[in-house]
Amino acid sequence: MGCELQISAPRNVFALSDTACHALLLGGGIGITPLVAMAHQLHQVGRQFTLAVFARTRESLPLRTILENSAWRHCVSVHLDDEAEPVRPADLIERSPLGCHVYFCGPAGFMEGVQQATKHWSPDRVHFEYFQAPAVSAPVPLTTAEPTARSFNVHLARRNMTLAVPHNQTIAHVLQSAGVPVDTVCEQGICGSCVTPYLEGHPAHKDMCLAESERASNIALCCSRSVSDLLTLDL
Ligand code: FES
Repeated sequence: MGCELQISAPRNVFALSDTACHALLLGGGIGITPLVAMAHQLHQVGRQFTLAVFARTRESLPLRTILENSAWRHCVSVHLDDEAEPVRPADLIERSPLGCHVYFCGPAGFMEGVQQATKHWSPDRVHFEYFQAPAVSAPVPLTTAEPTARSFNVHLARRNMTLAVPHNQTIAHVLQSAGVPVDTVCEQGICGSCVTPYLEGHPAHKDMCLAESERASNIALCCSRSVSDLLTLDL
């Protein structure tokens, strides 16, 4: 009580595109939570969208009251595992209008399925948010078995400081230990808090929040590594 807390500004790494002619919102289970907020926003500004919700049974459908009573309920389709012929997210992606953007959030298997179904799409039209990093992309390599799980140096251009990053530590931890402020929240490459511009070198990206276009000049310090011996950060 009575103490002052320092907080950072809100950050959104799962934002709606302003240019999409149609938004296909795909939610698996409780993963529909951010998509419901998007549906409210799209309806408010009069943009076209479909919210497709995937759940095991009607009883397990999350946010059911909102889905059934909102002003945009005619834009909602519900797909249940216990239906005679269940619809897959890939079916809806295949039938989506030209130029459509897809937004998806859900459990690991659901995410993998949608990633596969959209792998031929332009990355600019594919937007997603993970609950947690997939098991296959271990955010912090702890052994040297992986080619990028080795030590390298980071140079902080603005501070003219060079630091060694051992194979078993993240860039974020090394910087924080050296007194360099780095915002970290999820430490799994999901939230985008630690994303920092880099100037030179070749990162090994392991995040789940940056688009390919953003990766050309940014790196998530909590999980990504460096392929080059030296990585220069804009810090
Ligand atoms: S702390 Fe969340 S992406 Fe790095």
